[in-house]
Amino acid sequence: MFDVEKIRKDFPMIMNHPDLIYFDSAATSFKPRSVIDTVIDYYEHNNCNIHRGDYDISFAVSKRYDDTRKTIARFINAKRPEEIVYTYGATSSLNIVAINFAKKFLNKGDVILTSEVEHASDVLPWFKAAEQSGAIIKYVPFPKSGRFDLEAYEKCFENENVKIVALPHVSNVLGFIYPMKQIAAIAHKHGAYIAVDGAQAVPHIKMDVQDLDIDFLSFSSHKMLGPAGIGVLYGRYELLEQMDPVFYGGGSNARFYPDCSIILKNTPEKFEAGTPDIEGVLGLGKAIEYLEELGMDNVEEYGKQLAGYFISKLEKLDNVTVYNHGAEAGIVTFNVNGIFAQDAAGYFNKQGIAVRTGNHCAKMLDQIIGVNETIRASMYIYNTKDEIDRFVDVIKETTLEKCVDSIL
Ligand SMILES: Cc1ncc(COP(=O)(O)O)c(C=O)c1O
Repeated sequence: MFDVEKIRKDFPMIMNHPDLIYFDSAATSFKPRSVIDTVIDYYEHNNCNIHRGDYDISFAVSKRYDDTRKTIARFINAKRPEEIVYTYGATSSLNIVAINFAKKFLNKGDVILTSEVEHASDVLPWFKAAEQSGAIIKYVPFPKSGRFDLEAYEKCFENENVKIVALPHVSNVLGFIYPMKQIAAIAHKHGAYIAVDGAQAVPHIKMDVQDLDIDFLSFSSHKMLGPAGIGVLYGRYELLEQMDPVFYGGGSNARFYPDCSIILKNTPEKFEAGTPDIEGVLGLGKAIEYLEELGMDNVEEYGKQLAGYFISKLEKLDNVTVYNHGAEAGIVTFNVNGIFAQDAAGYFNKQGIAVRTGNHCAKMLDQIIGVNETIRASMYIYNTKDEIDRFVDVIKETTLEKCVDSIL
């Protein structure tokens, strides 16, 4: 395991806010000094465009930009760097997959199998894909616990032409890790593809796209220590080859002609029209190096330990309802009984504790867990058990009167 106190010193946000307890890393993580320095260094010493300049700085930055594809491929164990497409974030990756999949592979009556656990960014693009292709959206039934039920999932393939399964690897509200290897195997057994929303998984668990045998994986840099505005779409090379870009423009074409014909560059460049988020790519590369140095097995184990510790303490309180007993990925979701989640968060804020409340963009999850508004405390490598103890002491003493007072 790693030394958390040492890690904390790498994060300027922690050093600059010694009294803040930040439990909102599932929304966005803090960034270590090495990532911030990489972005600053780009602007102060290496500011240029890539693949367009005939001078040394541009050559050097272009190489670092291209090499980061290899870093990302290594991190998720893609077969080749060409399977890594730079995007603007998980949302843009998920849209690229859905739009293209609808165009190339979906026909009227085909089934898109997803779930009510889904974040808006993973399900709305599929709603649109269904609208465009005449495909039908179906939901994998989930028990009230929010745990994935493999048997119920496999039943969804009976007498249905499921073409694509779209599911998250980790729920952004419940922090459960879904059994992706089995989910993918079942999808493939029935001739379906699988597109995985990895926004909450890639930052927290060791990812191996070959071992999982998944077709697409979408994730964002800003949730895994990297800068915002840059994300990744992993796609099996042969599938990316069959897909069209969503955006057209400079950088992604080899030639175009007056008769409107376009010769695109190869995969993945054909998907990357326009000047990309260069400093974001370089920063993401640094973030991955930081995580690799800690070891993703350690990161995963630490997230599990923190969530387990937090939940075990909450379970001893009689004024709290926990919604994700046994969660594995650093997320704890609960309510203080009789208090509206946002009012409780207002009080926590006054005590220097940052959490998120509401439905966390998973606006159908209430169909499963039976509640629409929850408090989500999400943790990462720089959080400590001491912070959890301090938060639990606050929760224990939280009353409606205190919450009302903190608003007035
Ligand atoms: C599960 C899940 N999917 C997708 C997204 C969208 O990520 P982004 O806003 O970085 O595009 C999020 C963001 O919270 C998420 O938690």
